Amino acid sequence: LSKIEIKLSDIPEGKNMTFKWRGKPLFVRNRTEKEITAEQNVDLSELRDPQHDKDRVANPTWVIVIGVCTHLGCVPIANAGDYGGYYCPCHGSHYDASGRIRKGPAPLNLEVPYYEFPDEETVIVG
Ligand code: FES
Repeated sequence: LSKIEIKLSDIPEGKNMTFKWRGKPLFVRNRTEKEITAEQNVDLSELRDPQHDKDRVANPTWVIVIGVCTHLGCVPIANAGDYGGYYCPCHGSHYDASGRIRKGPAPLNLEVPYYEFPDEETVIVG
């Protein structure tokens, strides 16, 4: 299937769920208010791959990214690492709760796929 439809109410606040989409893991994360505020206030000069949080999310609550480390393609672990977003155990890359690379060998932020919200309950990715 080229598109996947996800019911957002299945994902509790503060949790990340992994789906399979086009043969890859797809992360959908329901961010807490604290995470949203922290990510919106990150100084872009701290970032290896500078991108504002608002340019990575269509709705601040939901982070939707491809779950493939941009170093050598392992699947990062959610809610882990020094920045509380994602941690890739293969060689130690730390991503924040916007999926941006913060520390370790990965060169780029986790990729954001095309998606849209047809209504408040649903996201369609692809
Ligand atoms: Fe993720 Fe190397 S594949 S750190």
